[in-house]
Amino acid sequence: MDPKVIELVQGSWRSVEPIAPQAAALFYGKLFEADPALKSLFKGDMAQQGAKLMQMIGAAVRGLNDVPALLPVLQALGARHQGYGVKPQDYEVVGAALLDTLAQGLGEAFTTEVRDAWTTVYQTMASVMTQAAEQARAAA
Ligand code: HEM
Repeated sequence: MDPKVIELVQGSWRSVEPIAPQAAALFYGKLFEADPALKSLFKGDMAQQGAKLMQMIGAAVRGLNDVPALLPVLQALGARHQGYGVKPQDYEVVGAALLDTLAQGLGEAFTTEVRDAWTTVYQTMASVMTQAAEQARAAA
């Protein structure tokens, strides 16, 4: 992955980490507003779920420097999402909610360059996850 993209994503994520619980709450608010039907897929405590999501995004963002090590982690995550009832098209609405959350959380620091870098990284993650989910579905 382009080192500039990695640097922009890692740099901007450092500003989100201190406000991770608020960012997670903002994210789920936006997600469920965009698609209320997705609410029913989440069974647990949303604060805990938000913490897991932020940890995993953080791990993936740090892992961009070592994509071969990150790939199996994302593939396993994608396969588990197949089990949660997540559909490939849900990745679009989640990506849009994530970008909106970053825009709101980062304010002026969310430049076009930063947006494009996050779009690249999210689309890469989503495509690895959905391919693994498809394989899990086909094997089931
Ligand atoms: C880059 C994309 C995503 C990341 C990093 C991510 C991360 C996570 C993590 C870390 C968990 C905790 C459980 C586990 O590790 O298996 C989880 C659970 C879950 N995620 Fe995601 N996720 C992503 C995309 C999505 C999408 C597109 C949806 C669709 C709505 C979704 C819905 C869920 C649901 C329903 C659960 C289980 C909740 C429960 O058990 O109650 N996720 N996700």
